[in-house]
Amino acid sequence: MSILSERLRALSGFPSELPVLDLAAAPAEPMGLFLAWLEEEIARGSRQPHAMTFQTLAEDGGPEGRTLILKDVDEHGLHVATSRSSRKGRQLARDPRAAMTFFWREAGRQVRIAGRTHPLSRAISEADWLARPTSDGRPNPDWQVYALQPDRVEFLQATQDRRHHELHYRLIDGSWAREA
Ligand SMILES: Cc1cc2nc3c(=O)[nH]c(=O)nc-3n(C[C@H](O)[C@H](O)[C@H](O)COP(=O)(O)O)c2cc1C
Repeated sequence: MSILSERLRALSGFPSELPVLDLAAAPAEPMGLFLAWLEEEIARGSRQPHAMTFQTLAEDGGPEGRTLILKDVDEHGLHVATSRSSRKGRQLARDPRAAMTFFWREAGRQVRIAGRTHPLSRAISEADWLARPTSDGRPNPDWQVYALQPDRVEFLQATQDRRHHELHYRLIDGSWAREA
């Protein structure tokens, strides 16, 4: 074992107090639980609880991830915004499949969400661009809001004994199926 490996192993892990995921009380659909966890994280005051790893597929089929900010959640799905001409923008134009991974370390929680993205309207994209703190009031036609419509959502609640609790949902023929 290298010295780095020993140091990494000795780093602190989950906090001593962790929420409990009651699998018996799991809702029939996942998005309410996702929003409840997000609200808890916002209330905790942790930094950037709306940041997640956003994965796309590169031209060679390989995965590519980067950090993005969740902009909204509505009937279209989970919104992110970026430049259409960026690498991820071009990748989404080629293959709309994408995945999000949220990690809320103070709660020992992870949520994985996968599905297909579609670009939202010019009006929504422009409103998002103009609402940015750095906006100079000029529109940016390259800016695009995408909605990811989930077909797979997986919750993980860490436990001290590392037998983490997982709750998986899959969209089958338009209905959510739960797989605990
Ligand atoms: C905390 C954080 C939040 C970010 N949020 C966004 C975002 O919402 N939209 C965006 O286009 N890039 C955002 N970025 C930058 C991206 O991670 C990425 O570097 C950039 O968009 C280029 O990605 P690409 O080459 O895969 O297209 C963020 C970076 C960090 C560290």
